[in-house]
Amino acid sequence: MPHPAMSPNNVAVITGGASGIGLAAATRFTAIGMRVCIADIGADRLAEAAAQLASVAKGGAADVMTASVDVSRFDDLANLEAAVQKRFGGTDILMNNAGIGPDSNSFGPLENWQRILAVNLWGVIHGTQAFAPHMVERGRPGLIINTGSKQGITTPPGNPAYNVSKAGVKAQTEALQHELRNIPGCGITAHLMIPGHVFTALTARGRTEKPPGAWTAEQTVDFMIARIEAGDFYILCPDNDVPRPLDERRMLWAAGDIVENRPALSR
Ligand code: NAI
Repeated sequence: MPHPAMSPNNVAVITGGASGIGLAAATRFTAIGMRVCIADIGADRLAEAAAQLASVAKGGAADVMTASVDVSRFDDLANLEAAVQKRFGGTDILMNNAGIGPDSNSFGPLENWQRILAVNLWGVIHGTQAFAPHMVERGRPGLIINTGSKQGITTPPGNPAYNVSKAGVKAQTEALQHELRNIPGCGITAHLMIPGHVFTALTARGRTEKPPGAWTAEQTVDFMIARIEAGDFYILCPDNDVPRPLDERRMLWAAGDIVENRPALSR
């Protein structure tokens, strides 16, 4: 059953929406007739992304808003929320998705840690604080989707700042889901989107062809939408990197069961 927040004319705001998974989500939402705002620091890619959205819109006229934002700055998100409210009347879906993954090391440099945490973790916190109160006040069904990572759960070696940032996103999303559930009558649910290996600008590292086993951003978003409609809180995308088969209802990793995939929807 389609989720009520994913309905024609509803409004989706997607950070990191000019590329990869964010753009794929914006494309799917536009294709079902939603009004979409893509917010990204890559101002040069926003116009091209908006043209892509126009090409999939029903009737060819997408109601697309583009915004040049840096999610590490709370004021950018607060201004974005006000601008979306002015143009579209409010937000039904917030996808806190912007992310970066430069190399990091526990011994430094500190600047890499500060930037990765500022974008990947503070970006999610900023987006939530700027949008969630208004979404709740609106009193409509809504979705807050935060893009985490398997690396925030399994902590593979190689990029500790990224691992820490995504572990923080997981904890923040779980906390938010508890908080939303405790608001009487609130129809907004939070979801932790955990992509597998997705072939995007972030992971291409000079490759021009999708490596075997990686998913496309579009496959990832289709899976995400299906799992949200099934009521999952954790949207756990499988891929070849996963060491053993996944139980769809639970988070099963090499370390064993971590946490139940609680049904997320209160509708
Ligand atoms: P991407 O590089 O194609 O897209 C990320 C977008 O975020 C870019 O358009 C970039 O300009 C934007 N961005 C970066 N810093 C920003 C900032 N400060 N403010 C606003 N926008 C900013 O990469 P992809 O793969 O689509 O990544 C999306 C999310 O998925 C990220 O959070 C990433 O960590 C996560 N992810 C991706 C995986 C993959 O295999 N591609 C695996 C696990 C998680």
